[in-house]
Amino acid sequence: MGETQGDNPRVAILGATGDLGFGLALRLAREGVPVTIGSRNAERAGDAVERCLGRVPDGRIEGTTNDAAVEAAEIVVLGVPFASHAETLKGLKPNFREGQILLDATVPLATAIGGRATATIGVWHGSAAQQAKALLPEGVRVVSGLHTVSAATLTDLDHELDEDVLLAGERREDKQRIARMIERIPGLRCVDCGRLELSRFTEQLTPLLISINSRYKTHAGIRILGLPESGAELGTGPAGGATDRQRRS
Ligand SMILES: NC(=O)c1ccc[n+]([C@@H]2O[C@H](COP(=O)([O-])OP(=O)(O)OC[C@H]3O[C@@H](n4cnc5c(N)ncnc54)[C@H](OP(=O)(O)O)[C@@H]3O)[C@@H](O)[C@H]2O)c1
Repeated sequence: MGETQGDNPRVAILGATGDLGFGLALRLAREGVPVTIGSRNAERAGDAVERCLGRVPDGRIEGTTNDAAVEAAEIVVLGVPFASHAETLKGLKPNFREGQILLDATVPLATAIGGRATATIGVWHGSAAQQAKALLPEGVRVVSGLHTVSAATLTDLDHELDEDVLLAGERREDKQRIARMIERIPGLRCVDCGRLELSRFTEQLTPLLISINSRYKTHAGIRILGLPESGAELGTGPAGGATDRQRRS
Protein backbone atom coordinates (compact mmCIF):
# COMPACT_ATOMS: atom_id res chain seq x y z
CA MET A 1 0.00 0.00 0.00
CA GLY A 2 0.98 3.61 -0.25
CA GLU A 3 2.61 3.07 -3.65
CA THR A 4 2.27 6.04 -5.88
CA GLN A 5 0.65 6.72 -8.16
CA GLY A 6 1.39 8.56 -11.44
CA ASP A 7 -0.71 7.43 -14.38
CA ASN A 8 -1.92 4.27 -12.69
CA PRO A 9 -3.11 5.40 -9.27
CA ARG A 10 -4.41 2.94 -6.71
CA VAL A 11 -8.16 3.18 -6.33
CA ALA A 12 -9.91 2.39 -3.07
CA ILE A 13 -13.42 0.99 -3.40
CA LEU A 14 -15.47 1.30 -0.23
CA GLY A 15 -18.22 -1.29 -0.22
CA ALA A 16 -16.36 -3.60 -2.62
CA THR A 17 -17.40 -6.56 -0.48
CA GLY A 18 -20.84 -5.88 -1.94
CA ASP A 19 -22.31 -6.10 -5.43
CA LEU A 20 -21.37 -2.95 -7.32
CA GLY A 21 -17.98 -2.40 -5.72
CA PHE A 22 -16.95 -6.01 -6.20
CA GLY A 23 -17.90 -5.97 -9.88
CA LEU A 24 -15.96 -2.75 -10.38
CA ALA A 25 -12.96 -4.13 -8.51
CA LEU A 26 -12.93 -7.19 -10.80
CA ARG A 27 -13.13 -5.15 -13.98
CA LEU A 28 -10.51 -2.61 -12.93
CA ALA A 29 -8.13 -5.26 -11.60
CA ARG A 30 -8.40 -7.16 -14.88
CA GLU A 31 -7.20 -4.02 -16.68
CA GLY A 32 -4.19 -3.64 -14.38
CA VAL A 33 -5.55 -0.92 -12.08
CA PRO A 34 -4.28 -1.39 -8.50
CA VAL A 35 -7.37 -1.78 -6.33
CA THR A 36 -7.88 -1.67 -2.58
CA ILE A 37 -11.08 -3.26 -1.36
CA GLY A 38 -12.40 -1.34 1.62
CA SER A 39 -14.76 -2.74 4.22
CA ARG A 40 -15.89 -1.94 7.74
CA ASN A 41 -14.28 -5.26 8.58
CA ALA A 42 -10.74 -6.21 7.50
CA GLU A 43 -11.58 -9.92 7.40
CA ARG A 44 -14.48 -9.32 5.01
CA ALA A 45 -12.17 -7.23 2.85
CA GLY A 46 -9.67 -10.11 2.84
CA ASP A 47 -12.37 -12.56 1.77
CA ALA A 48 -13.35 -10.26 -1.09
CA VAL A 49 -9.70 -10.02 -2.18
CA GLU A 50 -9.53 -13.83 -2.31
CA ARG A 51 -12.72 -13.98 -4.37
CA CYS A 52 -11.36 -11.30 -6.68
CA LEU A 53 -8.00 -13.02 -7.12
CA GLY A 54 -9.83 -16.25 -7.87
CA ARG A 55 -11.26 -14.50 -10.94
CA VAL A 56 -8.35 -12.20 -11.79
CA PRO A 57 -5.24 -14.04 -10.55
CA ASP A 58 -2.72 -11.39 -11.63
CA GLY A 59 -4.77 -8.49 -10.22
CA ARG A 60 -3.01 -5.98 -7.96
CA ILE A 61 -5.69 -6.26 -5.28
CA GLU A 62 -5.44 -5.56 -1.58
CA GLY A 63 -8.04 -5.40 1.15
CA THR A 64 -8.27 -3.42 4.35
CA THR A 65 -10.56 -1.35 6.51
CA ASN A 66 -12.30 1.64 4.95
CA ASP A 67 -10.19 4.18 6.84
CA ALA A 68 -6.87 2.65 5.75
CA ALA A 69 -8.17 2.24 2.19
CA VAL A 70 -9.04 5.95 1.99
CA GLU A 71 -5.62 6.97 3.26
CA ALA A 72 -3.79 4.86 0.67
CA ALA A 73 -5.59 6.08 -2.42
CA GLU A 74 -5.92 9.21 -4.54
CA ILE A 75 -9.23 8.06 -5.98
CA VAL A 76 -11.88 6.63 -3.67
CA VAL A 77 -15.07 5.02 -4.99
CA LEU A 78 -18.06 4.87 -2.66
CA GLY A 79 -20.59 2.09 -3.19
CA VAL A 80 -22.65 1.65 -0.04
CA PRO A 81 -26.41 1.66 0.54
CA PHE A 82 -27.80 5.18 0.95
CA ALA A 83 -28.92 4.33 4.48
CA SER A 84 -25.25 4.27 5.50
CA HIS A 85 -23.97 7.01 3.17
CA ALA A 86 -23.84 9.90 5.64
CA GLU A 87 -22.66 7.77 8.54
CA THR A 88 -19.88 6.22 6.46
CA LEU A 89 -18.59 9.56 5.20
CA LYS A 90 -18.81 11.26 8.59
CA GLY A 91 -16.79 8.42 10.10
CA LEU A 92 -14.13 8.62 7.38
CA LYS A 93 -13.86 12.41 7.25
CA PRO A 94 -10.58 12.49 9.20
CA ASN A 95 -9.03 10.01 6.76
CA PHE A 96 -9.69 12.04 3.64
CA ARG A 97 -7.25 14.73 2.53
CA GLU A 98 -7.27 17.64 0.11
CA GLY A 99 -6.80 16.69 -3.52
CA GLN A 100 -8.46 13.29 -3.35
CA ILE A 101 -11.36 12.53 -5.63
CA LEU A 102 -14.42 10.68 -4.38
CA LEU A 103 -16.38 8.91 -7.11
CA ASP A 104 -19.80 8.47 -5.52
CA ALA A 105 -22.01 5.73 -6.96
CA THR A 106 -24.57 5.87 -4.17
CA VAL A 107 -28.25 6.11 -5.10
CA PRO A 108 -30.83 7.38 -2.58
CA LEU A 109 -33.18 4.46 -3.17
CA ALA A 110 -36.32 4.35 -1.06
CA THR A 111 -35.15 0.96 0.23
CA ALA A 112 -33.19 3.07 2.75
CA ILE A 113 -36.50 3.66 4.56
CA GLY A 114 -38.17 0.36 3.74
CA GLY A 115 -39.58 1.55 0.41
CA ARG A 116 -39.31 0.19 -3.11
CA ALA A 117 -36.13 -0.01 -5.22
CA THR A 118 -38.09 1.68 -8.01
CA ALA A 119 -38.42 4.87 -5.97
CA THR A 120 -36.03 7.34 -4.38
CA ILE A 121 -36.16 9.53 -1.31
CA GLY A 122 -35.48 13.26 -1.19
CA VAL A 123 -32.01 14.31 -0.05
CA TRP A 124 -31.72 17.68 1.66
CA HIS A 125 -28.59 18.60 -0.33
CA GLY A 126 -30.19 17.59 -3.63
CA SER A 127 -28.47 14.25 -4.25
CA ALA A 128 -26.25 11.70 -2.55
CA ALA A 129 -23.19 13.15 -4.27
CA GLN A 130 -23.99 16.66 -3.08
CA GLN A 131 -24.48 15.26 0.42
CA ALA A 132 -21.02 13.68 0.12
CA LYS A 133 -19.55 17.03 -0.90
CA ALA A 134 -21.13 18.68 2.14
CA LEU A 135 -19.81 16.01 4.52
CA LEU A 136 -16.22 15.73 3.28
CA PRO A 137 -13.36 18.10 4.09
CA GLU A 138 -12.83 21.15 1.90
CA GLY A 139 -10.60 20.26 -1.01
CA VAL A 140 -11.88 16.70 -1.52
CA ARG A 141 -13.47 16.72 -4.96
CA VAL A 142 -16.62 14.75 -5.61
CA VAL A 143 -17.56 13.22 -8.94
CA SER A 144 -20.85 11.38 -9.26
CA GLY A 145 -21.12 8.35 -11.52
CA LEU A 146 -21.73 4.67 -12.21
CA HIS A 147 -25.41 4.76 -11.20
CA THR A 148 -26.58 3.20 -14.45
CA VAL A 149 -24.00 0.41 -14.62
CA SER A 150 -25.28 -2.86 -13.24
CA ALA A 151 -23.28 -4.86 -10.71
CA ALA A 152 -24.42 -8.05 -12.43
CA THR A 153 -22.92 -7.15 -15.79
CA LEU A 154 -19.70 -5.88 -14.20
CA THR A 155 -19.32 -9.10 -12.24
CA ASP A 156 -19.92 -11.33 -15.25
CA LEU A 157 -16.50 -10.99 -16.86
CA ASP A 158 -17.71 -12.81 -19.97
CA HIS A 159 -20.33 -10.14 -20.55
CA GLU A 160 -19.19 -7.61 -23.15
CA LEU A 161 -20.01 -4.17 -21.82
CA ASP A 162 -21.24 -1.52 -24.24
CA GLU A 163 -22.68 1.46 -22.40
CA ASP A 164 -22.10 4.94 -21.08
CA VAL A 165 -21.12 6.08 -17.61
CA LEU A 166 -22.67 9.44 -16.78
CA LEU A 167 -20.39 11.68 -14.74
CA ALA A 168 -21.22 14.90 -12.91
CA GLY A 169 -18.75 17.07 -11.04
CA GLU A 170 -17.51 20.60 -10.64
CA ARG A 171 -14.15 20.27 -12.39
CA ARG A 172 -13.67 18.84 -15.86
CA GLU A 173 -10.15 17.81 -14.86
CA ASP A 174 -11.54 15.55 -12.10
CA LYS A 175 -14.07 13.99 -14.46
CA GLN A 176 -11.29 13.40 -16.99
CA ARG A 177 -9.23 11.67 -14.32
CA ILE A 178 -12.13 9.42 -13.38
CA ALA A 179 -12.87 8.77 -17.06
CA ARG A 180 -9.27 7.72 -17.72
CA MET A 181 -9.69 5.11 -15.01
CA ILE A 182 -13.20 3.91 -15.94
CA GLU A 183 -12.48 3.80 -19.68
CA ARG A 184 -9.71 1.30 -19.12
CA ILE A 185 -12.64 -1.10 -18.86
CA PRO A 186 -13.47 -2.06 -22.45
CA GLY A 187 -16.99 -1.09 -23.47
CA LEU A 188 -17.49 1.76 -20.99
CA ARG A 189 -17.53 5.34 -22.28
CA CYS A 190 -17.77 8.27 -19.88
CA VAL A 191 -20.01 11.23 -20.65
CA ASP A 192 -19.60 14.61 -18.97
CA CYS A 193 -23.09 15.57 -17.74
CA GLY A 194 -22.03 18.85 -16.17
CA ARG A 195 -21.76 20.19 -12.63
CA LEU A 196 -22.23 18.08 -9.51
CA GLU A 197 -25.82 19.31 -9.13
CA LEU A 198 -26.68 17.28 -12.27
CA SER A 199 -26.29 14.19 -10.10
CA ARG A 200 -29.86 14.98 -9.04
CA PHE A 201 -30.84 13.56 -12.43
CA THR A 202 -28.25 10.83 -12.94
CA GLU A 203 -28.97 9.23 -9.55
CA GLN A 204 -32.65 9.08 -10.45
CA LEU A 205 -31.94 6.87 -13.47
CA THR A 206 -31.20 3.84 -11.29
CA PRO A 207 -34.78 3.19 -10.13
CA LEU A 208 -35.91 3.68 -13.71
CA LEU A 209 -33.49 1.00 -14.89
CA ILE A 210 -34.47 -1.29 -12.02
CA SER A 211 -38.09 -1.03 -13.13
CA ILE A 212 -37.16 -1.67 -16.78
CA ASN A 213 -34.94 -4.59 -15.77
CA SER A 214 -37.71 -6.26 -13.82
CA ARG A 215 -40.02 -6.06 -16.85
CA TYR A 216 -37.51 -7.23 -19.47
CA LYS A 217 -35.53 -9.60 -17.21
CA THR A 218 -32.25 -7.97 -18.14
CA HIS A 219 -29.57 -5.58 -16.88
CA ALA A 220 -30.07 -2.51 -19.07
CA GLY A 221 -27.60 0.34 -19.31
CA ILE A 222 -27.65 3.86 -20.72
CA ARG A 223 -26.35 5.13 -24.05
CA ILE A 224 -26.28 8.83 -24.99
CA LEU A 225 -26.73 9.30 -28.73
CA GLY A 226 -25.55 12.11 -30.96
CA LEU A 227 -22.24 12.94 -29.33
CA PRO A 228 -19.47 13.90 -31.74
CA GLU A 229 -17.09 11.06 -32.56
CA SER A 230 -14.02 12.94 -31.41
CA GLY A 231 -13.91 15.21 -28.44
CA ALA A 232 -16.90 13.52 -26.81
CA GLU A 233 -14.81 11.24 -24.68
CA LEU A 234 -13.56 12.42 -21.35
CA GLY A 235 -10.96 9.72 -21.08
CA THR A 236 -8.05 9.27 -23.42
CA GLY A 237 -7.04 5.74 -22.56
CA PRO A 238 -6.40 3.29 -25.39
CA ALA A 239 -9.01 0.85 -24.08
CA GLY A 240 -11.78 3.50 -24.04
CA GLY A 241 -15.28 2.24 -24.74
CA ALA A 242 -15.89 4.42 -27.78
CA THR A 243 -12.67 3.24 -29.36
CA ASP A 244 -13.72 -0.36 -28.91
CA ARG A 245 -17.13 0.27 -30.42
CA GLN A 246 -15.58 2.08 -33.37
CA ARG A 247 -13.23 -0.85 -33.88
CA ARG A 248 -16.15 -3.28 -33.95
CA SER A 249 -18.25 -1.23 -36.41
N1 LIG B 1 -25.96 -3.04 -7.34
C1 LIG B 1 -26.00 -2.32 -8.46
O1 LIG B 1 -26.19 -2.87 -9.59
C2 LIG B 1 -25.81 -0.83 -8.39
C3 LIG B 1 -25.69 -0.11 -9.59
C4 LIG B 1 -25.49 1.26 -9.51
C5 LIG B 1 -25.44 1.91 -8.29
N2 LIG B 1 -25.59 1.16 -7.14
C6 LIG B 1 -25.52 1.87 -5.85
O2 LIG B 1 -24.26 1.55 -5.28
C7 LIG B 1 -24.38 1.41 -3.87
C8 LIG B 1 -23.92 0.01 -3.47
O3 LIG B 1 -24.79 -0.93 -4.06
P1 LIG B 1 -24.60 -2.49 -3.79
O4 LIG B 1 -25.68 -3.17 -4.51
O5 LIG B 1 -23.17 -2.87 -4.05
O6 LIG B 1 -24.86 -2.55 -2.21
P2 LIG B 1 -24.63 -3.74 -1.15
O7 LIG B 1 -24.04 -4.92 -1.85
O8 LIG B 1 -25.89 -3.92 -0.41
O9 LIG B 1 -23.60 -3.09 -0.13
C9 LIG B 1 -22.28 -2.73 -0.49
C10 LIG B 1 -21.43 -2.70 0.77
O10 LIG B 1 -21.78 -1.59 1.58
C11 LIG B 1 -21.41 -1.89 2.91
N3 LIG B 1 -22.53 -1.65 3.82
C12 LIG B 1 -23.71 -2.28 3.85
N4 LIG B 1 -24.47 -1.81 4.85
C13 LIG B 1 -23.75 -0.87 5.46
C14 LIG B 1 -23.97 -0.05 6.60
N5 LIG B 1 -25.12 -0.08 7.28
N6 LIG B 1 -22.98 0.82 6.96
C15 LIG B 1 -21.84 0.87 6.28
N7 LIG B 1 -21.55 0.09 5.21
C16 LIG B 1 -22.51 -0.77 4.81
C17 LIG B 1 -21.07 -3.38 2.99
O11 LIG B 1 -19.65 -3.49 3.06
P3 LIG B 1 -18.89 -3.93 4.45
O12 LIG B 1 -19.90 -4.71 5.26
O13 LIG B 1 -17.80 -4.79 3.94
O14 LIG B 1 -18.45 -2.68 5.07
C18 LIG B 1 -21.58 -3.90 1.67
O15 LIG B 1 -20.86 -5.00 1.19
C19 LIG B 1 -25.85 1.67 -3.53
O16 LIG B 1 -26.02 3.01 -3.14
C20 LIG B 1 -26.56 1.39 -4.83
O17 LIG B 1 -27.77 2.09 -4.95
C21 LIG B 1 -25.76 -0.18 -7.18
